Amino acid sequence: MTAQIIDGIHVAKYIKSKMTKKIAALRSQNLEPCLATILVGDNVASATYIKNKQRAAVELGLKTKDVRLPSSCPQSELIAIIKSLNEDIRVHGILVQLPLPNHLDPFIITNTINPIKDVDGLTPTNMGLLVGGKGSLKPCTPVGIVELLDHYGINVSGLHVVIINRSQLVGKPLAFLLLEKDATVTICHSKSYNLLKEIKDADLIVTAIGNRDKFTLTGSMIKTGSIIIDVGITRLGGKLAGDVDYSSVAKYASWITPVPGGVGPMTVSMLLNNTLIATSLSKN
Ligand SMILES: NC(=O)c1ccc[n+]([C@@H]2O[C@H](COP(=O)([O-])OP(=O)(O)OC[C@H]3O[C@@H](n4cnc5c(N)ncnc54)[C@H](OP(=O)(O)O)[C@@H]3O)[C@@H](O)[C@H]2O)c1
Repeated sequence: MTAQIIDGIHVAKYIKSKMTKKIAALRSQNLEPCLATILVGDNVASATYIKNKQRAAVELGLKTKDVRLPSSCPQSELIAIIKSLNEDIRVHGILVQLPLPNHLDPFIITNTINPIKDVDGLTPTNMGLLVGGKGSLKPCTPVGIVELLDHYGINVSGLHVVIINRSQLVGKPLAFLLLEKDATVTICHSKSYNLLKEIKDADLIVTAIGNRDKFTLTGSMIKTGSIIIDVGITRLGGKLAGDVDYSSVAKYASWITPVPGGVGPMTVSMLLNNTLIATSLSKN
């Protein structure tokens, strides 16, 4: 078996073409979508993520605000800036890049964002709505994975899905999204016993570890015909790689996402799409 490729670049382009139409519809109602990003400190990876998000937003024709703060920024000042963006009717989406410097509490900071402007879908309100199957602003990476599966007609109903990650950003919200689609979901993490047994039993594996020294998914570990979604991002021999040893896994899997070019482009597209959803929500 040679796996079919789940091409995130192709799907992201398709979604962007749909978003162009949505932007035109919003403009016809005098709504000019605007995304504000906040970066605190000088973490190199975070600065790259912000640069990519800002560039993608501008390329799509969205207005943006790019707020940069020193790593010494007091929590009270960051909260005041978020509150002023909450009040600003020209701003529809607010994203605070994580992780934050240690003296800033990510829960308090995230919780300061008005839920209808929460384009990362990480506020307690939006997380709660997602658990209830009701949310409209959902975390970008999980919703991007669901979009990829839908685009390729991969029906997860009844499948045994194993997610190797339990973070707020990836594993937990994805589990609820896939439960909504009638999958049987197992979440694994660094303390899980029998990880290899869970992987071997899985019809669909989502791996998001990002540390090839600790874990690499290889072809002999999976069941023939399983579907592989690789979220992990790591550097291997100076190149970007995922958790998956692509060439060995592709021999046994039915579908596979490459890294780069799989989940990554979808995460950015879903952020832009969430900004359009937030713009629509601002009408009410
Ligand atoms: N492509 C994208 O758009 C995108 C978006 C978001 C994240 N990512 C990437 O996805 C990865 C995870 O991101 P994150 O923010 O969720 O990171 P995280 O919070 O550090 O989560 C990593 C998860 O992997 C688990 N883990 C670590 N070592 C393991 C092992 N040996 N066996 C089983 N599980 C293990 C951890 O378990 P514990 O909870 O027990 O520690 C944790 O649940 C990173 O590489 C990140 O760059 C990519």
